[in-house]
Amino acid sequence: MDKFVIRGGEPLLGTVRVSGAKNAALPCMAAALLTDQPVILENIPQVRDIQTTRNLLAAMGAEVELGYGRAQHRTTIHCAKLNAPEASYELVKTMRASTLVLGPLVARCGHARVSLPGGCAIGARPIDLHIKGLESLGARITQEHGYVEATAERLKGAEIVFDKITVTGTEDLLMAATLAEGETILQNCAREPEVADLADLLNKMGAKIEGAGTPTIRVKGVSKLKGAKHRIIPDRIEAGTFIIAGAMTGGDLNIAGCDPSHLNALLSKLHEAGVKTKATSDSVRVMGDNPFTAADMSTEEHPGFPTDCQAQFMALTTQAEGTSIITENIFENRFMHAQELVRMGANIKIEGRRAVVRGKTPLSAAAVLASDLRASASLVLAALVADGETIIDRVYHIDRGYEHIEEKLKGVGAQIRRIGEMFPKKAAAVK
Ligand code: UD1
Repeated sequence: MDKFVIRGGEPLLGTVRVSGAKNAALPCMAAALLTDQPVILENIPQVRDIQTTRNLLAAMGAEVELGYGRAQHRTTIHCAKLNAPEASYELVKTMRASTLVLGPLVARCGHARVSLPGGCAIGARPIDLHIKGLESLGARITQEHGYVEATAERLKGAEIVFDKITVTGTEDLLMAATLAEGETILQNCAREPEVADLADLLNKMGAKIEGAGTPTIRVKGVSKLKGAKHRIIPDRIEAGTFIIAGAMTGGDLNIAGCDPSHLNALLSKLHEAGVKTKATSDSVRVMGDNPFTAADMSTEEHPGFPTDCQAQFMALTTQAEGTSIITENIFENRFMHAQELVRMGANIKIEGRRAVVRGKTPLSAAAVLASDLRASASLVLAALVADGETIIDRVYHIDRGYEHIEEKLKGVGAQIRRIGEMFPKKAAAVK
């Protein structure tokens, strides 16, 4: 298993470029299931979850073409025939977002069999809202042997109010509704930019969607969708991670190719903590030349502070003067990075969904364990300012969602190297 070896103490200087958003690319790839024509996606990040999705779609009978050379961030997905509308446990267990194929499959094929995701390191993460929504659209759903099976002649439009805001739940039902008969109104929807990006692609494919990015989405069902070409939005979580890295290391870092309008909650929280940034239409420069102070933060659904940046923000608060209270409202068990940060010298007490971080404490290098995708990112950030050489084990978690993070960080002055087998060698498995 790969590890990162990081020697702390270097300020990050220069320009780092943000990749396409994994969480937008995943639903857009699933959307290709809705048509028998090719869907071309650009700005696809080279991360493990994308490869898992390629494998998942290929296993159903899709032709998944990788770009080569300079075009490797492009992929064409052609679902002319889907002979096995099924997502197996083997694939779903490594990536919960595989459940995104449920809605498109039942809408296109009239039948879907998808493994239940099971437990997850950051909490229970059920898919009851996906199931309830599809039932409202007329699908018959059974659960047996750890699989959800959905069948429907043709889905029928309906009014659906989500009991709780769910990102992939909104995306799943949005995709299903595009091919339903009649109008669907989705209420209490997730407003994440990734939902709007998916709707953009679906509209290019001939769907009739209004209101994506707001709490109410209206979809007029059509009988067929066509192929389309679409560029994935920049990854706001990767951008946020680099902004925090620049601030923590006392660097001067330009984060290029991002969309600052997606980063408002993070930027305003960083400003509250005294971090200086300057934004243009597609970049953020962070100047970490002044000490920063504690700030309380609560995660919320978009446009609130993203839970996917909570762990990274916690790493920053260990280096802020004063006490910060971090409240995690989205997931019940998303503080696993805290114990590892404590092992590096941080002063953090967990009280249920609240973490009390007392700073500033010097961090010292240690051997630490990555427990999930964003937790790993917070350990990388802590290691960048720790005294000595930190070894982070299980970096396959970070490879799920960050494209070549060690190369990007090395390019702006970090002392980081990977030991063990390099990702992505298995990419050749799918043509
Ligand atoms: C997506 C993101 C993930 C991010 C999360 C919250 C993708 C691929 N992943 O995950 O990076 O951390 O949004 O911003 O886009 N819930 C239910 N029943 C359901 C569905 C969800 O109770 O059927 C609960 C979850 O347990 C959680 C909350 O709703 O407590 C929000 O989860 P959700 O928005 O669905 O997260 P994901 O879409 O899985």
